[in-house]
Amino acid sequence: MVGYTSEWRRSLDDPPAFWIDAASAVDWTVPPQRALDERDGGWTWYPDASLNMSVNCLDRHVDAGRGQAIALRYHSAMTGTRKDYTYRQLRDRAARFAGALRDLGVGRGDRVLLYLPMTPEAVIAMLACARLGAIHSVVFGGFAATELAVRISDARPSVIVTASGGLEPGRIVEYLPIIRKALDAVPGIVRSVVVRDRASVPGSASDLEGSTEGVGWFDWDALVAAATPAAAVGVASSDPLYVLYTSGTTGSPKGIVRDTGGYAVALAWAMRNIYDIGPDDTMFTASDVGWVVGHSFIVYGPLLAGATTVLFEGKPVGTPDAGEFWRVVQDYGVKAMFTAPTALRAIRRVDPDLDEVPEGALRTLKTLFLAGERLDPETWHWANNGLGVPVVDHWWQTETGWPICANPVGREVLPAKAGSTAVPMPGYDVRILDSKGRDVTGTNAGASSPEGNIALRLPLPPGTLTGVWGSPDRFREAYLTAFPGFYATGDAGYIDEDGYVFVMGRTDDVINVAGHRLSTGSLEEVLTLHRAVAECAVIGVHDELKGQRAAGFVTLKAHEDIDHDRLEAELVALVREHIGPVAAFRDVTILERIPKTRSGKILRKTMRQIVDGEPYKIPATIEDPTVLDALAVAVRRVAEVDSRPLTGLGADRATRH
Ligand code: COA
Ligand code: AMP
Repeated sequence: MVGYTSEWRRSLDDPPAFWIDAASAVDWTVPPQRALDERDGGWTWYPDASLNMSVNCLDRHVDAGRGQAIALRYHSAMTGTRKDYTYRQLRDRAARFAGALRDLGVGRGDRVLLYLPMTPEAVIAMLACARLGAIHSVVFGGFAATELAVRISDARPSVIVTASGGLEPGRIVEYLPIIRKALDAVPGIVRSVVVRDRASVPGSASDLEGSTEGVGWFDWDALVAAATPAAAVGVASSDPLYVLYTSGTTGSPKGIVRDTGGYAVALAWAMRNIYDIGPDDTMFTASDVGWVVGHSFIVYGPLLAGATTVLFEGKPVGTPDAGEFWRVVQDYGVKAMFTAPTALRAIRRVDPDLDEVPEGALRTLKTLFLAGERLDPETWHWANNGLGVPVVDHWWQTETGWPICANPVGREVLPAKAGSTAVPMPGYDVRILDSKGRDVTGTNAGASSPEGNIALRLPLPPGTLTGVWGSPDRFREAYLTAFPGFYATGDAGYIDEDGYVFVMGRTDDVINVAGHRLSTGSLEEVLTLHRAVAECAVIGVHDELKGQRAAGFVTLKAHEDIDHDRLEAELVALVREHIGPVAAFRDVTILERIPKTRSGKILRKTMRQIVDGEPYKIPATIEDPTVLDALAVAVRRVAEVDSRPLTGLGADRATRH
């Protein structure tokens, strides 16, 4: 077998040849004759092919005689429920629910919005949409009604599938009032809401019948009982499988469009070569189906591979303790695990010596994969040494759908380097560009490239975004215009002399809190809704647990004398109401003036450096340098109040007030 580097080189030298070979891992209704169509600055993978994703994930394994193999293991640390689904059971459930959606008028190309907790219904609903060729858009349960309404208004789904609610530690999240509020905000789009009644959460479809004009409320079980299984619909490879919204630099999220065929091929390649997972292996991805990680590596990737996937409802700590992840590994014989660095830091905080790892629990675990945010070398060393399992940091984005850089341990285990996300995956030509767009990759012979913008030479490989929902212009402007011929990742970093990529942070106003991507712009929009706030700036500052947290700085309107604690409480409530608890917004500092340049640009970088206690230079263009002194004083004052000891779940909350 050729080494990985030659394999990657081949993918760049002759992309169509590489990806037509890789396409044989997928079952097509019309197999591709051509891999790539490039025209007018755009590209399409497998332009002449068609397939069905649900068939690839379910039916073909059943048809191959693996109907009794376990596809899904539901493990709820919140309710103590454990339930397994074989491939046959999951196929039958997805086909029946697809029948129910069909009876509500859903067909190929229609959008269905899913707002569901981490229960099997989320997986079933996704696969049911795929069976019909309908496009799902999953919205994470931690988003509030306003965010939901924005997504409804953009994606225009005819049906919403939801549940009575989700379970958070010490709190029940009732979904139905959130859904109702969102529907009231954007009437006339959604025709039907399907509700999965959860015993532990009050509320059901029948409570809401007639509550919202033009909307029918349906009980999941009743609908399914009346439905016949739907046949799978073959769709064009380029047909969207889903739209997943992610934060950009502005207040309105971007609907990332994922195609069907390219995604199936890329995931099939990744499962085998990155995650080393095949039929009868078990993968445990501790994320949420509301994020891209959940789409790719809880649902589609493992099922395409014919493997067993673990659907985990709970937290890394506190449900009930820091040993739960390791017990899951032990009980299900997990071979590959995937989580966010924040989860490991949370475990480390309460169990630094890993006393909660049961004896021998990690025997089956071959690799622990981490992504979603920068993995600090300290946490990497702690996990590598403490768990005795190789820890692979890998880098990707909602937009790419699968890793840009990783250690392809299923093919060849490359040496690991702390702080690096290892090497580019096939089809990804990763370049470092300076601020003028000049390619500086490899310019320091035999040494690392300078740090700069990380960009990917076009065309992007299969599986990556094919557009922004409803807006070709936004797709071009957001990703393809800054550096012609390249996709701008929005990340900064460098490549070392061995070709290892180091991702250091964002170049834009996107921040990353506990692996969740947030836009400071949208937080600022919410803060300015408060009657007392004149101006504001939100920046991402360092957080020991969550990597970053959002810190808000506000100036008050003249004659407003609201005290700090009340303002902070009201702003926190406002953010929860408009964006949702996921923003985890808790820090507010009142300033006399916001530091700005003479042209009115907020000095975010300098503000962040001051708050994080890093050295900083006073920018020559500053409007008034004394404003920075005032910021430093305000930050010191807050820091003095900050020293409560931290333990356990939510301990980060004690870092301020
Ligand atoms: N539905 C509703 N609310 C949710 C939610 C969901 N699906 N997920 C999180 N929230 C809420 C939490 O309850 C919390 O609300 P609170 O302020 O009322 O307590 C808030 O959103 C912030 O949640 P979170 O960021 O999860 O913080 P936490 O303090 O509750 O937990 C950790 C801390 C470290 C346990 C948690 O951040 C974690 O598990 N991180 C790993 C992240 C991860 O897996 N990311 C996946 C990206 S790949
Ligand atoms: P999301 O689209 O929510 O998955 O967030 C993607 C962003 O998270 C990337 O653009 C990076 O900024 C960050 N990110 C993801 N994985 C890593 C990683 N392994 N190292 C550093 N940053 C990462």
